[in-house]
Amino acid sequence: MSPVSEENASTRFSNRESDAADMRAIQEFLDEAMITEVLNVVKSGKEATVYRCRAHPSLGVPYAAAKCYHSAFHRSFQRGAIYEEGRVIGNGQVERAIKGRTEFGREAQLALWVDHEFEVLSTLHYAGADVPEPFACTDTAILMELLGDDSAAADQLQFAPVSPADADDLLDRILWNIELFMRENVVHADLSAFNILYVEEKLTIIDFPQAVDPRTNPSAPKLLERDLRNVLSYFARHNVGLDEDPATMARKLWGLWKYGEL
Ligand SMILES: Nc1ncnc2c1ncn2[C@@H]1O[C@H](COP(=O)(O)OP(=O)(O)OP(=O)(O)O)[C@@H](O)[C@H]1O
Ligand SMILES: [Mg+2]
Repeated sequence: MSPVSEENASTRFSNRESDAADMRAIQEFLDEAMITEVLNVVKSGKEATVYRCRAHPSLGVPYAAAKCYHSAFHRSFQRGAIYEEGRVIGNGQVERAIKGRTEFGREAQLALWVDHEFEVLSTLHYAGADVPEPFACTDTAILMELLGDDSAAADQLQFAPVSPADADDLLDRILWNIELFMRENVVHADLSAFNILYVEEKLTIIDFPQAVDPRTNPSAPKLLERDLRNVLSYFARHNVGLDEDPATMARKLWGLWKYGEL
């Protein structure tokens, strides 16, 4: 288990500018009776803070993760136009506000990223992929299944103790997920051992706001190859390799997807 911040969430709220926005989002989940309490911060970054919450009994799980995005999110260099190519906004007024970089436009753009992550998680969860079950979203936050146990959230695969015996199966399972994502017209586009959680020999893939649609995004083949490269380089460090290089694998997978053979 990763060391989880023991800071009390209410103390944190008073300390950081973005905490007020996080609290507003969390209040919505409390008001909707989806959670009953915020327990602690799992991870706090410039772009998002993830809180471990006690779930309301109606959710049918003991804990939930509230991922609260900050306004810095869409300014990140990573969230470049490359991920937004081909996305349909569908409302001329919102599109103009986004292009004009008005305050409303910035808020709308953040809400689009959040909504996109929620939609992708919903599609993939429904398809049976190893992703957290999404429960709800607001303009700035997503509530989803928390991976972990009674004491802490799950480790990122990057920092998890993985036995050599398990590594082979894990790689197979990740490749199975990447194929399933493609079948659902999703390329993760930021896949690495940092965005895979690992608990009790089971993996869960997280963090989908930048996911792209291979039908509409011309950079999708390149992003698919980069995902495969990141995954394979993690496993190479565990002495698990494949005969094929990421470029060949990406090309083959793309071909199968393109001709409907996945
Ligand atoms: N459903 C979840 N269950 C348990 N832990 C989670 C969950 N979702 C996110 N986390 C934890 O929060 C971290 C950040 O979440 P995520 O990767 O979705 O956001 P991010 O934008 O990449 O944030 P950062 O850049 O700070 O890593 C994860 O690396 C993981 O440790
Ligand atoms: Mg991440």
